[in-house]
Amino acid sequence: MDSTFTQTDLNMASNAKNGSFLNDVITGLRSNPKKLNSKYFYDANGDKLFQDLMNCDEYYPTNCELEIFSERTDEITGALIAGGDAFDLIELGAGDATKSTYLLKDLLDKKADFTYLPIDISENVISYLNITLPVTLPGLNITGLNGEYFDMLKKAAAISARRKVVLFLGSNIGNMPVPEAIEFCAELRNHLSEGDMLLIGMDLKKDPKVVLAAYNDKGGITKRFNLNLLERINRELGGNFDLTKFDHYPTYDPESGACKSYLISLEDQQVKIGSENIHFQKDEYIYMEISQKFTLMQTDQIAINTGFAPLTQFFDGKKWFVDAVWVAA
Ligand code: AVJ
Repeated sequence: MDSTFTQTDLNMASNAKNGSFLNDVITGLRSNPKKLNSKYFYDANGDKLFQDLMNCDEYYPTNCELEIFSERTDEITGALIAGGDAFDLIELGAGDATKSTYLLKDLLDKKADFTYLPIDISENVISYLNITLPVTLPGLNITGLNGEYFDMLKKAAAISARRKVVLFLGSNIGNMPVPEAIEFCAELRNHLSEGDMLLIGMDLKKDPKVVLAAYNDKGGITKRFNLNLLERINRELGGNFDLTKFDHYPTYDPESGACKSYLISLEDQQVKIGSENIHFQKDEYIYMEISQKFTLMQTDQIAINTGFAPLTQFFDGKKWFVDAVWVAA
């Protein structure tokens, strides 16, 4: 993307990326209990499986948020435009930008003065957005930023001193346990100035059966989504996981709101990852992912505790999901 980088720089960067992947995997599987980080779910196959998940009957969060964005567009963009001064619209983990496209189109119709800065860890995602969005949305100013959220937020602040409006959608915040989510919001606040805004999508507590079904779909996509990480380790890190020797175990605890998924070793077994040997006892688990569900009170508390003031909330018809607007206080 940036022509000032040489091929050697790029190789080193990709080795460094692979190095931390290997390091995280080995450290996680050497800990007790064993764990893997769900941020590694999203290779090309994982992206595809997540697309399939979003289209399956049981996985409701995406549809809820799409309903909010399509039916409340005018009010949402109105809140973001606020006093009407120019702003940078920064999206953390933009993906294919389906949801944000509703907002972008309406902002353009309203002749709002803004630049769209999607941030994503995937270089493919960023080059795709840089190329396709100006075609689908004529007149859009877009600067895609490929990298880690906070590094790229610093870069965005260096590029322009305009007001910042940050989008953090899809309940991606739920992939962190609550204390970590609080730390994340506090760090985000540190990268912003008073008056900047955050539009954050959070999945809410609801009928536990509905939540569990979303992470235990009948078609087995969630299971494949989890097993895909083992496959990725086999391919990229020289592993020899036998996927038939692990089962997927999803759980939801209505009390804490934690929806967690595990892979369970079906037998006593030895797995090689490069030169490392990892032993699994029969019935031993690998903790794979948390998808935290929140109460409305919790969402406000997180805002207040991390230097934001809750401004407005937008819900889907069932009140299963909230998109909240917070102002940096
Ligand atoms: C993309 C993190 C919001 O936790 O609901 C979907 C990922 N995991 N099914 C979520 C996911 C299992 C998803 N997020």
